[in-house]
Amino acid sequence: MQRKRIIKVKDKTFAVSISERTLKSQIKRIADQINRDYEGKVPVFLAVLNGSFIFAADLLREIDLPLEIDFVKLSSYEGTSSTGNVREFIGLNVDITGRPVIILEDIVDTGITMAHMLEILKRQNPESIDICTLLLKPSKLQAKLDIRYCCKEIPDDFVVGYGLDYDGFGRNTKDIYTLIK
Ligand code: IMP
Repeated sequence: MQRKRIIKVKDKTFAVSISERTLKSQIKRIADQINRDYEGKVPVFLAVLNGSFIFAADLLREIDLPLEIDFVKLSSYEGTSSTGNVREFIGLNVDITGRPVIILEDIVDTGITMAHMLEILKRQNPESIDICTLLLKPSKLQAKLDIRYCCKEIPDDFVVGYGLDYDGFGRNTKDIYTLIK
């Protein structure tokens, strides 16, 4: 299939900004780091839905460790700007007490969602919690977060594709696209 340089998602236009090839190589780099750092451990990966489903699927197939995966949800985003409100935390079915946990997120923007999630997860006394995000907007970060694994830092632009959405649409592309108008 020929890749499109420009796509339309609902009323907005986006241009390709991170290729599938770059995503793959950055994900492999992070997976190699996790394989090294977690050698001898049995981590629980918590993939934050909906945005991280493609990232989680690709990253986990590069992980060469015994592991468990669960899918959780806590979202604060509507349209193209963060609302600042955090919603309910749902979906955790694995007992993480005493376990090393790695959170998989599609993108850390203000970091408010992630900070809230950390707070909730810490109450269950895991052995450790690391954050692994596909994308990070460093200039938007408000919360104090220690992000151990990050595939790619991006400018303060709105992006879609590879799991990330605009108003529920645009998740099903192989590349990532940036809003142009
Ligand atoms: P935060 O709490 O501001 O860090 O927002 C994190 C959540 O907002 C992410 O999990 C995404 O669902 C969403 N988000 C932030 N920036 C973007 C973007 O550029 N495109 C799509 N979703 C985004």
